[in-house]
Amino acid sequence: MHIHIFTLFPQMFQGPFQHSIVDRAKNAGLVEIHIHDIREYAHDRHHVSDDAQFGGGSGMVMKPEPIFEGVESVLADLTQLEMARTRVILTSPQGRLLNQNLVKELSQQLHLVLICGHYGGVDERIKQHLITDEISIGDYVLSGGEPAAIVVTDAVVRLLPGAVGSVASVQGDSITSGLLQHPIYTRPARFRQWEIPEILLSGNHLEIERWRRQRSLERTFRCRPEMLGKVRLTSEELLYLKTLGYKGNP
Ligand code: ADE
Repeated sequence: MHIHIFTLFPQMFQGPFQHSIVDRAKNAGLVEIHIHDIREYAHDRHHVSDDAQFGGGSGMVMKPEPIFEGVESVLADLTQLEMARTRVILTSPQGRLLNQNLVKELSQQLHLVLICGHYGGVDERIKQHLITDEISIGDYVLSGGEPAAIVVTDAVVRLLPGAVGSVASVQGDSITSGLLQHPIYTRPARFRQWEIPEILLSGNHLEIERWRRQRSLERTFRCRPEMLGKVRLTSEELLYLKTLGYKGNP
């Protein structure tokens, strides 16, 4: 996969992709990440990439020309087949909320182009005629789209086949399974006065799985009850949830 990031602040990307899974995926040849400075596509003497808003109003607006030129120069190198598996994404608080289903969809593409919005926003013609998706990472406003591009990249890259040690650890992800993760523990079995649940030392894998699933259900019910409406539950699990006070989803 190729990920192209268009930004006014290329230095912001120096650290995040040099560690852990993303770095390993790069070294294994699973992904190439290209950082493009939008200002390099602004050809006036001062590389101006923003301007005041037509009609008045506070906040500068990102100009269309440098962004169109930069993104189109990337797209120009793609075949039609590659284009069919390419997404051009603007990160913005107005976008579709990122979730694991969308991450999965993005991880199946060959090319992702991420444009980091800034200031008061981008010229509307970028939204109308250049991008395929507008994505928000949550209902809050960041000072720019760069952290969002880092989040999207990280979440997508770890789903690329071979990026994470075992497929099971990705499939068992909290959220991927539709439930929050059960509690996990490591050595020592007793830390200060806190002991791990006895069942985990029993060696009875069937019972351990049952315990884990119940803890997942319980945690999801307490923290994210709306998620339960989308999970296939056995009648035993439903019964268990009802003992916690779950009334079913409307
Ligand atoms: N830019 C500013 N806020 C954002 C958000 N919540 N998600 C994505 N991009 C953003």
